[in-house]
Amino acid sequence: MTTTNPFGHPPSPEGPRVRTRRDFLKGATAVAAIPLVSGLWGCGPKPSAPTAGPVAGATKGRRKLGPLEVSPIGLGCMNFVWAYGPPVDKQQALKVIRAAHERGITFFDTAEIYGPFTSEELVGEALAAVRDEVVIATKFGFDIDPATRQIKGLSSRPEHIKRAAEASLKRLRTDHIDLYYQHRVDPGVPIEDVAGAVQELIKQGKVKHFGLSEAGGATIRRAHAVQPVAAVQNEYSVWTRDPEHEVLPTCEKLGIGFVPWSPLGMGYLPGTITPETAFGEGDLRAIMPRFTPEARRANRPVVELLRRVGGRSSAAPGQVALAWLLAKMPWIVPIPGTTKLNHLEENLGAIKAQLSAEDVNEIDAEFSRIKLVGARAPEDLMKSHDVGVDLGTSSAGGHGKSPLPKK
Ligand SMILES: NC(=O)c1ccc[n+]([C@@H]2O[C@H](COP(=O)([O-])OP(=O)(O)OC[C@H]3O[C@@H](n4cnc5c(N)ncnc54)[C@H](OP(=O)(O)O)[C@@H]3O)[C@@H](O)[C@H]2O)c1
Repeated sequence: MTTTNPFGHPPSPEGPRVRTRRDFLKGATAVAAIPLVSGLWGCGPKPSAPTAGPVAGATKGRRKLGPLEVSPIGLGCMNFVWAYGPPVDKQQALKVIRAAHERGITFFDTAEIYGPFTSEELVGEALAAVRDEVVIATKFGFDIDPATRQIKGLSSRPEHIKRAAEASLKRLRTDHIDLYYQHRVDPGVPIEDVAGAVQELIKQGKVKHFGLSEAGGATIRRAHAVQPVAAVQNEYSVWTRDPEHEVLPTCEKLGIGFVPWSPLGMGYLPGTITPETAFGEGDLRAIMPRFTPEARRANRPVVELLRRVGGRSSAAPGQVALAWLLAKMPWIVPIPGTTKLNHLEENLGAIKAQLSAEDVNEIDAEFSRIKLVGARAPEDLMKSHDVGVDLGTSSAGGHGKSPLPKK
């Protein structure tokens, strides 16, 4: 059943390189120097046999998100049903999800809002036969009409979370959710109440671990004090550095894993999107400031930088983007989204594209000189983000967007 498994190579003889906060703040200078290994599947010349080197910071090819052990790269399962165009053919989606598992991916990311509901249904159907071999992460936090599927707004009220969990369990065809994230911080509900509701689900065995998405430092600390948070999932990639400011240091301090969403910059970093690319109906990039034709033209040096670094070892720009995330911290697990088998295989090749400290430093130094055009999201959406999530905001001394519990 299993084909080539890129996660099967031996653990680093040194084990994970534990980095201190000081190391982190110094940037990539402390990343263990590991040569960029060539022979990446799906791009450039293929090696006759995989050149298996140790994965930076991984243990037995796995990474830890808090107490949860997962493959170094997961699969984002939003894309099969929405965000970048109309839903893909169901059989194609099932094939890609199952292929991901066969190739060693054990970490699958979905949410009730994707579709709504249909991404969870796909993940449930695709993985039912291998449920015990995989980690399924899903998210709550929106008020979605179960009949019409209309999204009415945020809701993280405890009774709503419990109902949402029951519905997700059914769609996922399982009796437990491995990682249950709050999708967006709800300014109407104290995060302590949210953490308490998830804690009850954990006690009942319906949820194994708690996560937060697009949360700032203060919210993470408050939630973690009630129910330990296994992972935080915020947008992070070579061209979106916001979590470096306070979220990653908070995760490091508390031993929380980090899952970067849009690790390929919503498809820009692999370099296949040009100023001429036309976004079809239902493609959210049409409203993203970073995806105007002018921005796409102006931001091209980011792709060229990744191409230059990757060119030294036949790694594609997208692979370098993912390898850069893997090199940053051993507790970072990107979840690139793809609807295509060839892209899935190319993305898995990033595990072997280990970057040296010099490569990472070069990317960081040169990126800091590029004048990036366009915010990562439209203004109204940025306003809804938690305090401390975006560069230029800080939750230090405050309590974030979530209200404090009533005394
Ligand atoms: N927590 C949150 O708020 C949040 C928000 C957004 C997303 N997410 C999660 O994060 C996952 C990933 O994020 P994302 O999908 O927004 O962004 P992404 O992974 O950065 O990029 C996805 C885009 O890249 C393209 N792509 C993937 N591999 C490629 C390759 N090797 N070469 C060229 N293009 C490639 C995909 O197109 P093809 O389908 O053609 O490959 C798709 O258009 C989602 O699936 C979802 O599970 C979470």
